[in-house]
Amino acid sequence: MQDYSQRGTPLYRAALAFLRRERIPMHVPLHGRGGGAPYLMSRGLAPFLQWDLTELQGLDDLHLPAGALYQAQILAARLFGAKQSFFLVNGVTGGLLALLSALLRPGEKVLLSRLAHKAVLHGLMLSGAVPVYLPVKGEEQSGFPLNITVATVRAALKKHPGARLLLVTSPSYWGVTAELAPLAELAREHGLTLIVDEAHGAHLPFYGDLPHAAAARADFWLHSAHKSLGALTPGGFLHLGGRQHLQRVRFWLQVTQTSSPSYPVMLSLDLARRQAALCGKRLFGRARVWAEAFRRALTEEGVNLLGEEAVREAGFYLDPCRITLLRPEGGGLRLAEKLARHCRLQLELADENYLLAICGPAQLRLSPRALARAVAGVLPLAQPARSFSPKLQLPFCFAAAKGEGEDFTPFPLAPQRAISLPAAALPLESCAGRICAEMVVAAPPGIPLLAPGELISEKMLAVLLLLRSRGRRFQGPADPGLRRLKIVL
Ligand SMILES: Cc1ncc(COP(=O)(O)O)c(C=O)c1O
Repeated sequence: MQDYSQRGTPLYRAALAFLRRERIPMHVPLHGRGGGAPYLMSRGLAPFLQWDLTELQGLDDLHLPAGALYQAQILAARLFGAKQSFFLVNGVTGGLLALLSALLRPGEKVLLSRLAHKAVLHGLMLSGAVPVYLPVKGEEQSGFPLNITVATVRAALKKHPGARLLLVTSPSYWGVTAELAPLAELAREHGLTLIVDEAHGAHLPFYGDLPHAAAARADFWLHSAHKSLGALTPGGFLHLGGRQHLQRVRFWLQVTQTSSPSYPVMLSLDLARRQAALCGKRLFGRARVWAEAFRRALTEEGVNLLGEEAVREAGFYLDPCRITLLRPEGGGLRLAEKLARHCRLQLELADENYLLAICGPAQLRLSPRALARAVAGVLPLAQPARSFSPKLQLPFCFAAAKGEGEDFTPFPLAPQRAISLPAAALPLESCAGRICAEMVVAAPPGIPLLAPGELISEKMLAVLLLLRSRGRRFQGPADPGLRRLKIVL
């Protein structure tokens, strides 16, 4: 009889027992727990090398789990309210690729948030499905992108009653969570499979009062445990709400994940799950209280934030630990540099018109008030806020202006087909009205500006030209400087 207490750490204990046996390492990885890689050892990697094991006696097999890993995955499923959970060793990226390949067939339509990560588009590329973007609602005053609404999905379903799947990105990179329960209800009514990309929200269940995928009974959801739970990069979880498509998902995880999974990553998933189970409420609760104090202090100092109230008024919820500083007057990049130099603050990301800071348990020893004062000291905050020019700024281009984007036009070509057809690289300036043949991502965030099969609009062309003029480089295209872009002939 197995003990499935959340206090247990089956994989970690198996690794510990293995190391205690002190076998002579005649196996891969070749560093042999450090002895075979003296240079790496001398450069501080010793603790990492020690745990860098492989599928040896007692350590189970990610692709055929029957022992320690099997138990560790059951514990994760029980904690996160899933029927079945899988460890992800190349992030939510690997999980999304597997899931979308398992669930979709060529030509099927997928309703997806305009905030979907590039891994979603890559998954659709593998499956042959056709994306239909759902516009995201912007915040009333600033136009900053929030999330998708139930009304938007309902309207999209009227136009595409045969859609196969709904993919919601919740919370967004900026911590805005959608109304997941009514979305799940709507999906059930229409026989849609609901996937929630909860990469940034593994900690949400521990707050107790914010919407999250398990509470909404989503069909599938994914957690970047490295982004939001404290596990090592790139550890994640794929959770299944039921047992439908289990075998196909299992098969596709074997396709998209390495046959040499990282044990340090998997051990960290086992340990982070235990930490969340035993201390999650306290740890994330304290982080939230800290972040709320920091937000209050920043606001008192005159810093313009994406505020909880405005987000609530728009019908969404905000994770207080995601702090977005809005800079309508621009100068965000220079500000991020100053914050790094004068306050030693390394932010998650910065653009001309906004900065994003992620708070968590790592900051608890700092004084939120002192830090807010230091931040305010660096900024010329008292500048009168001019209005944003939402059409031309990242990430404003992901938010629909009022009424815009409600026609729910599918991509004219499935991404899979778009990359297989003859293509030509044209000067960017002449690409409007053509069908894109490449992925174009100004990361971070990893939200594609364009994907293969998508019609290149005048609006998106203007965004690309502006970003290019600022020297931005792009992930995806053969020409990262985007002088030319490949289009389908
Ligand atoms: C919303 C979202 N989904 C998925 C991913 C991919 O997650 P991972 O880095 O764990 O592969 C990211 C990464 O930034 C993301 O922001």
